[in-house]
Amino acid sequence: MGYKTLCFGLTCILFAYFIYVPIPENIDEPWKVRIVDAVIKTTSLTAMLFENIGLMGYEKLFSTLVKLDYTQPISDENVTVMDTTFTDIPVRLYLPKRKSERQRPAVIFIHGGAFVLGSCSKCILWQAPLDLLNRLTANKLDAVVVGVDYRLAPQYQFPTPYEDVISVVKFFLEDKTLAEYGVDPTRICISGDSSGGTLAAGVVQQIQNDPEFKNKFKAQALIYPGLQLVDISMPSHQEYEHGPVLSRNMAIELGCLYLTNDKALSQAIRKNQHMPHGSGHLFKLVNWSTFLPEKYRKQHVYTEPVLGRLNTSFSILLDNRLSPLATNDSQLQNLPLTYVVTCQHDILRDDGLIYVSRLRNAGVKVSHDHIEDGVHGALSFMTLPVYLQLGIRIKDKYINWLEENL
Ligand SMILES: *[C@@H]1O[C@H](CO)[C@@H](O)[C@H](O)[C@H]1NC(C)=O
Ligand SMILES: *[C@@H]1O[C@H](CO)[C@@H](O)[C@H](O)[C@H]1NC(C)=O
Ligand SMILES: *[C@@H]1O[C@H](CO)[C@@H](O)[C@H](O)[C@H]1NC(C)=O
Ligand SMILES: *[C@@H]1O[C@H](CO)[C@@H](O)[C@H](O)[C@H]1NC(C)=O
Repeated sequence: MGYKTLCFGLTCILFAYFIYVPIPENIDEPWKVRIVDAVIKTTSLTAMLFENIGLMGYEKLFSTLVKLDYTQPISDENVTVMDTTFTDIPVRLYLPKRKSERQRPAVIFIHGGAFVLGSCSKCILWQAPLDLLNRLTANKLDAVVVGVDYRLAPQYQFPTPYEDVISVVKFFLEDKTLAEYGVDPTRICISGDSSGGTLAAGVVQQIQNDPEFKNKFKAQALIYPGLQLVDISMPSHQEYEHGPVLSRNMAIELGCLYLTNDKALSQAIRKNQHMPHGSGHLFKLVNWSTFLPEKYRKQHVYTEPVLGRLNTSFSILLDNRLSPLATNDSQLQNLPLTYVVTCQHDILRDDGLIYVSRLRNAGVKVSHDHIEDGVHGALSFMTLPVYLQLGIRIKDKYINWLEENL
């Protein structure tokens, strides 16, 4: 009892402190963003404390708070929603009801959550935001939408989440599956937000470059994606180290659980000294000093990273399924039409901006929306209890782009 009271008291003090942390001036609905930010920061610090005293893993408090309840698929007058599995991986399907003479386009949506949290079908309180997004997409585009519930870290670490997505995609792209759902093989997009964008970008690279696949993607849509773990000291990592919403520390702690339980990795990443010897060739592919537009480079000075400081060498750090940005031009040039959303006040901003530059240099057609007052994760705040206009704006931009381009 005394212990619980102490925890509660501590949480209140942290919250009261964090609620006064300044946020960038141009942000819309600042008090809502402050509350979200303070809740996340309080959770992160408490989680760190619990981990240090050996009570539970860092991610456990987040997954307890974001206690996901399975929500039954609910069909409406326009869309039939159903849960099934593709190659044993749970998927939620959104199938338009209206009669169609033609084959339909399709969107495969990969949710975010740092590979550790999130779901396309489960929700926190009322309605899962991504369930809403996928339903709206299906209705507006008259498209078949597939939400993928891949397995999550730390129970299932790299490459399991990636392989789950690949296996769903391979199954869906087979002629017989496309025929079953009446999908036009030339109008398929894969989309993802945040770490879902990491997975989507990696999967697209693999599928488009693999001659075994007859059916390819027409488009990819990446919403504030994380695209690399090679250099964690870009201007956006520095400027938004403390958030809002996603701090560098939290991204590193959660992101590392995707790879390992060994804390040495997150410690090395914090100092940006995690890459092994022999990975030097990757740095030119993610070099912000070359690829970031002048406007975002500002007064930042590029420093060459220190290699080989980690005693255990994680060779997976060289894997482009983890860092789709660290892929050479000959692989990028086969990529389909691409849509990227970046948010100004986001540590992952520069990953997206650099990918836009690299794809354009490689001759890929890219549409890019930069949200000047954007913060990370806004699409997750589109339904009660936290309803941000910013989330609605990003949703509208995304669906409009699909409508015009798919
Ligand atoms: C069904 O579609 C119509 C036309 O797009 C729309 O006006 C209506 O709100 C939709 N119903 C639901 C439940 O979304
Ligand atoms: C990164 O770019 C800067 C400026 O273009 C250059 O001086 C530096 O050598 C580059 N470093 C790597 C590792 O590519
Ligand atoms: C690596 O190993 C050496 C020798 O065992 C040790 O002195 C050093 O502290 C270790 N470095 C790290 C970062 O663990
Ligand atoms: C590009 O990457 C692919 C796959 O990693 C590799 O096979 C190829 O040799 C690379 N090409 C260049 C020009 O580095």
